[in-house]
Amino acid sequence: MFLPSEQIIEFFPEYRSTQIAWQGLTPIAAWAIIDLKPRRVVELGSYRGDSFFSFLQAAQSVSELEDLVAVDTWEGDQHTGAYVEDVHKQFHDELASRNDPRARSIRDYFVNAAQQFDANTIDLLHIDGAHDYASVREDFETWLPKMAADGVVLFHDTMVRTDGFGVWQFWEELEQEYPGRCFNFTHSNGLGVLCLGTSTTGEIRKLCDLDPVDAGVLRDVMTLAGEQVTKSTTFEAKLITRNGGKIGNEHVFARGAQRVALEAARGIEAQFGLDQVEVHMDQRIDQKMNYRVEQLVHDQTDDLFAALKPQLDEHARIVADARFELLRKEHIGVAATLKKVLKGNKG
Ligand SMILES: C[S@@+](CC[C@H](N)C(=O)[O-])C[C@H]1O[C@@H](n2cnc3c(N)ncnc32)[C@H](O)[C@@H]1O
Repeated sequence: MFLPSEQIIEFFPEYRSTQIAWQGLTPIAAWAIIDLKPRRVVELGSYRGDSFFSFLQAAQSVSELEDLVAVDTWEGDQHTGAYVEDVHKQFHDELASRNDPRARSIRDYFVNAAQQFDANTIDLLHIDGAHDYASVREDFETWLPKMAADGVVLFHDTMVRTDGFGVWQFWEELEQEYPGRCFNFTHSNGLGVLCLGTSTTGEIRKLCDLDPVDAGVLRDVMTLAGEQVTKSTTFEAKLITRNGGKIGNEHVFARGAQRVALEAARGIEAQFGLDQVEVHMDQRIDQKMNYRVEQLVHDQTDDLFAALKPQLDEHARIVADARFELLRKEHIGVAATLKKVLKGNKG
């Protein structure tokens, strides 16, 4: 069986914007960086930075990396729509906060930016600009001469066949043109991996030789690895909105200890099946639960989950009986309270 290391499968991006489309691919971004150890990486299309900052995060342990470049007009395109200036500001505030001299951006059209790079100097290129056939083809052909002989090119959205998306079509042509050098991950709208040249070093290059069973297992595992990220984002969004909050475009999801606390709450919800049911707040139950929780926190209970488990078990039993709508709401109230508690306890 051909699988990446645990470090890759468990990779979790510190930075997550509201653009969830790329988040499920971030373990693959980490794999590409850690495995290929590229000196120069260029990204065409960075938007709010979900893919870019996952490359940068993975590069923390890769001393070979010298130059990681985000290229974008930060004006949007026909699929993203036109941007307001806050998109550019958000990306650059995040970039500045990293204070990593290896990471930089070029705010320009891809064709103009290409002139700043010498031939054969890019080891890893990520193409994620406009997604119509003509654009993706032009991006590839413009930047191909800049690629190192054994470089690797990633293409996002190889699986999308609607709304004028044409990456899939160009990808099919590449599979003909580069036999044995292409591998397509099919989740999160698809990520095509094209290995130029004949180098056999690195795990990523072996993808193209996998037999169908190993390829299927790998795709499934990387889909699940990606879901760890996307489910975390959707869970947190759910917590905010079900408590009356709003998530603006500029929202950044929890990091560090706060994220760990929310993950714990997500685990509890899933364990008790609360993630399967529609969410309503029930003030009465919420207050009752709050009282119990306050007491536990006051008593400095070390293992909050263990302390709450009998009550949660009881609620799980209740929710199993879906005939009682009122009881179902009560159970959900408990879940909503739990997340507040976990946040207060660990965040
Ligand atoms: C789909 S978004 C990129 C998503 C990003 N990789 C992520 O992780 O969310 C595409 C981006 O490409 C930019 N773009 C499209 N065509 C471009 C071009 N010809 N030159 C420069 N930027 C372009 C758009 O402004 C947009 O921000």
